Amino acid sequence: MSKAKSVYSCSQCGLQSAKWLGRCTSCGEWNTFVEEKPQLSVGHASNPQLAVLDQLGLSHPVGSGGTTRRGGKGYVTLDPSQEEITAGAHQATRVPTGMSELDRVLGGALVPDSFVLLGGDPGIGKSTLLLQVCKGIAPLKKILYVSGEESIEQIRSRARRLGIQDQPNVFLASETQLEKVLESVRELRPGILIMDSLQTFTTSASESAPGSVSQVREVAARLMALAKSAGVAVFLVGHVTKDGAIAGPKVVEHMVDTVLYFEGEGMQSYRLLRTVKNRFGSTHELGVFEMDGEGLKEVPNPSSLFLSERNQPVSGTAVGVPLEGSRPLLVEFQSLVTGCEFGTPRRTAVGLESVRLSLLAAILEKHLGLPFGKSDLFFNVAGGLRVADPACDLASAAAIWSSYTETALPMGWAWVGELALTGEVRRVSQIEVRIDECLRLGFQRVVVPRGTAGSILKKYAGRVSPVSRIEELEALVGPKAGKG
Ligand code: TYD
Ligand code: MG
Repeated sequence: MSKAKSVYSCSQCGLQSAKWLGRCTSCGEWNTFVEEKPQLSVGHASNPQLAVLDQLGLSHPVGSGGTTRRGGKGYVTLDPSQEEITAGAHQATRVPTGMSELDRVLGGALVPDSFVLLGGDPGIGKSTLLLQVCKGIAPLKKILYVSGEESIEQIRSRARRLGIQDQPNVFLASETQLEKVLESVRELRPGILIMDSLQTFTTSASESAPGSVSQVREVAARLMALAKSAGVAVFLVGHVTKDGAIAGPKVVEHMVDTVLYFEGEGMQSYRLLRTVKNRFGSTHELGVFEMDGEGLKEVPNPSSLFLSERNQPVSGTAVGVPLEGSRPLLVEFQSLVTGCEFGTPRRTAVGLESVRLSLLAAILEKHLGLPFGKSDLFFNVAGGLRVADPACDLASAAAIWSSYTETALPMGWAWVGELALTGEVRRVSQIEVRIDECLRLGFQRVVVPRGTAGSILKKYAGRVSPVSRIEELEALVGPKAGKG
């Protein structure tokens, strides 16, 4: 091998390069490249799985699926009932976490040997969530909660505040050295290991500083080996950082089974838990929680969060029904169209892609003759939600039109449909689920695409108004609209 040279890694996404780069060519972040010394591995250090098995005192891999060899063979039968070794066979029964909002994003419940990454901004509530999970899982499995950030006393006092006492199945450790954690796992044999947080742990297999790309990668590789070879479900917390000095959770996303992101808007008390990747269920699922003085509460009925409470109709708002995973939400879209005397008109969107906003503005300009060339356009999704479902096009367009014409849309109406550049209102998926949600929340009328199946239109007759083109909007809402 030629002389070992330094490599440079992006601390946001883990991309490696032989040269330092100002901007990462993979994730597009600036100033995230840090120099790493090459690893001089000895013994099993280069093979995380063997290193972990050694550490756990497992000379023969326990049969738990994953990458382990069984009975000396490098392969197994697809059908586990055909297998000779039944002892310790992969136990696929999922473990409910006691929080149905979390179970939903995990794809039903927790898979016993899964490796789950929980990412999010510092202070968003990741540690709180996982401590609360301990309470739900403790009756079923032994849990080891390892914090590299807090002392035992701090964790205990937080747990007390969250009402998690008298749980003999929950064990705490305040530790940053991964090998010591594995030592505890060997002694305790927990079913669930919670590691809080990724960036604070170090393994002796890497000489880099804690939180560096190579430490983070090595730690995660060992935890993955632990999950797969010893059948321990591992929750790994990762802080999202903008600072290039500490590696972000993206660096390890490819290694884990499930990636969850916990997010929330500055001052709002609710938190959204999103599935970004899941080997055991659908992605794009959403769990909703609310943070109060006693920790996180589940919000099983989140539609009301994203609607404003008012009893007077106002212009510039419309209610749409995006699907988040399998779940419909009622969301208020707000728009403000103001005159722009000088310069280039602005298109500012919060919660909607600005490309989408420009697209909708162009459609309204072309087909309804709204002269947006001289207007600034502001758009907001209430409650800080981000919406990407094209079925919200009609609601968004209705809100913009309503602001421009200063026509309040009728109260108790919801708008569902995708807009084509030609001005057509296109069919959307799962329209019945969306209509049902509107009716359940007391909405009287849902504007839907005319292309919707006849049987559905018949079923909801009197409660839906089919439209085929955006031009029908004026006629639908009333003749009051003027083109200012
Ligand atoms: P935490 O779980 O420590 O965040 P993370 O682990 O993601 O960094 O949450 C910390 C925030 O949550 C902190 O700002 C205080 C708030 N909080 C409450 O509002 N109520 C509570 O019961 C708890 C435990 C925390
Ligand atoms: Mg924390």
